[in-house]
Amino acid sequence: MAVQISPSILSADFARLADEAAAVPNADWLHVDVMDYHFVPNLTLGLPVVEALRKATSLPLDCHLMIADPDRWAPSYAEAGAGSVTIHAEASSAPVRTLREIRSQGARAGLALNPATAVEPYEDLIGELDMLLLMTVEPGFGGQPFLDVVLPKIRRARALIERHGGQVWLQVDGGVSADTIERCAQAGADVFVAGSAVYGADDRVAAVDSLRALAEGVS
Ligand code: DX5
Ligand code: ZN
Repeated sequence: MAVQISPSILSADFARLADEAAAVPNADWLHVDVMDYHFVPNLTLGLPVVEALRKATSLPLDCHLMIADPDRWAPSYAEAGAGSVTIHAEASSAPVRTLREIRSQGARAGLALNPATAVEPYEDLIGELDMLLLMTVEPGFGGQPFLDVVLPKIRRARALIERHGGQVWLQVDGGVSADTIERCAQAGADVFVAGSAVYGADDRVAAVDSLRALAEGVS
């Protein structure tokens, strides 16, 4: 399992997104939180901003769609050049079709689960996924405290992924910081989203490096 760090621009300065992307050249991905005021009680950005960001950074975009009806909108994010597009299981009524459409547009396909959503019902979809995202806060806002209650699910998800060949990445998102990343890595996560822990730091490069070192230290 290779550790990957995906800084979330939700905690960045939205008026300076190109500069904020350039501030984390040592990251593996740039995590882009798309929110629509319907699936979550917050509104961020959409396709035009993703298209602009695509041209403004060489980092691959990790688009996390916290939107209603992702079946309708997700393929456009893949088409716009996102490297990875993640939909929420709770919001999708045709996840297999949507995940296949994301892949057919050349992006990696991700499925996200809220803290209270069990992973077991999705075991049969593992072959349709490149990444499983387990939310470690309720989605909608940056800077919330990490929910330890999700740790057993991270362990169960890792075991399930290993039973199916071990190819699917296991991402955690929410409250990931120098205080919590080792717990996540220990439980089996390998892709770490960090918003406030990176963009709230004075030295973003050092923040990414130290999160990576902490996760690698336990994996
Ligand atoms: C929350 C978003 C996260 C958010 C994480 O719903 O999906 O990606 O940016 O922020 P932190 O790392 O501050 O919890
Ligand atoms: Zn996110």
